[in-house]
Amino acid sequence: MKTILITGGAGFIGSHFVRYFLDKYPQYQIINIDLLTYAGSLKHLQGIENHPRHHFIYGDIRHRSLIENLFQQYSIDAVIHFAAETHVDRSIQNPDIFVHTNIMGTQILLDTAKNTWQNAENTRFHYISTDEVYGSLGETGFFSEESPLMPNSPYSASKAAAEMLVRAYTQTFGLNTVISRSSNNYGIYQHDEKLIPTIIRHALQEKPIPIYGNGNHIRDWLYVSDHCRAIDAVFHHGQSGEAYNIGGHCEYTNRQIAQTICRLLDEKKPRPSGQYADLITSVTDRAGHDFRYALNTQKIENQLSWQPETDFVAGLNQTVDWYIPYFLD
Ligand SMILES: NC(=O)c1ccc[n+]([C@@H]2O[C@H](COP(=O)([O-])OP(=O)(O)OC[C@H]3O[C@@H](n4cnc5c(N)ncnc54)[C@H](O)[C@@H]3O)[C@@H](O)[C@H]2O)c1
Repeated sequence: MKTILITGGAGFIGSHFVRYFLDKYPQYQIINIDLLTYAGSLKHLQGIENHPRHHFIYGDIRHRSLIENLFQQYSIDAVIHFAAETHVDRSIQNPDIFVHTNIMGTQILLDTAKNTWQNAENTRFHYISTDEVYGSLGETGFFSEESPLMPNSPYSASKAAAEMLVRAYTQTFGLNTVISRSSNNYGIYQHDEKLIPTIIRHALQEKPIPIYGNGNHIRDWLYVSDHCRAIDAVFHHGQSGEAYNIGGHCEYTNRQIAQTICRLLDEKKPRPSGQYADLITSVTDRAGHDFRYALNTQKIENQLSWQPETDFVAGLNQTVDWYIPYFLD
């Protein structure tokens, strides 16, 4: 039996991942620590609250003695670290909490792992990062794992800073680490402040659907279950000290995303008059808004045999179906 500490497992991606790992690996016990901030919820863990191999701990990754006690009490073998402040707009309004949680929280986890694990064998620290650490692309090109980290928002800067600490703990202390950098995720349980749930909510509530600036900003979209499979591959087979891009080969502008969701809603829940796309409204652009993210994913595809599997419209259909009663109830 291996015991894995998952941080942020009541958040969007973390909760999907906890379910995925419990199902796939009967030999793993999961200790799930989450502070249940505005973004985390025990509702995301419904059905697995009393699972015999899942122990939920309400707590803060910045609380050193709590983390040290968890490592001792449960003999933690590995960490998969999702917990973070994650919303770019909030990081522009209040960067402090991003520095505290995303950088200092990561350092406490790294330090405890380093102090507890006597050697690198049979241990692993997996840091969940983002494509936003690379900064912004123009119309063409892709970021590879060799691209320089040039983050532009306080959120992406805090994620990149944490990555540097992960690297340092491998170089200096020999900690067994991997980093994965994923593109934008979508799926059920995402907090409704993020782009796709915001579009669905505003549409269903007959409110203007806000799109930053001209709506031409491009993101690469990845279905959350494809991300979970990729984390599994990197966690088990990635090489220590390496980073792996995880992308969906699925680039759309924000306006295209809004239009696609509106079309789906027109079919599923027609408005009394007009179409949902009539609600799409440009709002003042986000400060420092990155124009485009796109990833070269050859490394994970060639070395770890992972590829995204979910068709975008199929994944979006399932997501919209889940959010309709969620927002209308
Ligand atoms: N959502 C995406 O599109 C995306 C893309 C790439 C990378 N990521 C990364 O994946 C990870 C998870 O993202 P998400 O979208 O699921 O985020 P989320 O905001 O939905 O969840 C974050 C979770 O962390 C918890 N948390 C926050 N501060 C904490 C603290 N101090 N101690 C313990 N728990 C704390 C929250 O309660 C929440 O449950 C993050 O590290 C994020 O940077 C997300």
